Amino acid sequence: MNLKIIEYPDKRLRVKSEEVKVFDKKLHDLLDAMNKIMIDTNGIGLAAIQVAQPVRVLVLNIPEEDGEQPPENLLEIINPVISDKSGTFIYNEGCLSVPTFYEDIERAEFLTLHFQDRDGNTKTLEVEGMLSIAIQHEMDHLEGKLFIDKLSPSRRRKFEKEYKRMLKKRK
Ligand code: CO
Repeated sequence: MNLKIIEYPDKRLRVKSEEVKVFDKKLHDLLDAMNKIMIDTNGIGLAAIQVAQPVRVLVLNIPEEDGEQPPENLLEIINPVISDKSGTFIYNEGCLSVPTFYEDIERAEFLTLHFQDRDGNTKTLEVEGMLSIAIQHEMDHLEGKLFIDKLSPSRRRKFEKEYKRMLKKRK
């Protein structure tokens, strides 16, 4: 499976992703390809819509203190639902689909998360800190939302200018 990360302002990033109902080899191939592309691009999380697949699938691998992302830390999350949120946590977020831009974003510190694994088994996880932030960021992608939507109007305008300049330079 050869996947490519799509980038803002690609309109496909605004599509709402569909629930996964079939847990077959096609899903496993997608998960494997997403994991590879996430690690290859030094990402900590990736939603399927970022590789133009509009399904409710996420992969995450939060780096250790030494920056390593061992395969055993890989978390595959399908059809996630949050049942409880608390606290606040501010983190300087970035996104593989919004390259070169980072901004402090406030989200919940603690989450109770329900999801399915690659075989369709249901799981519940209590998460906190950076993993909690990353899951909320990736779940926003499933609704067609991006972290830049959370910027104040003036900050957003500044971002749009900087981003256009970056895209031009990169060509
Ligand atoms: Co993102």
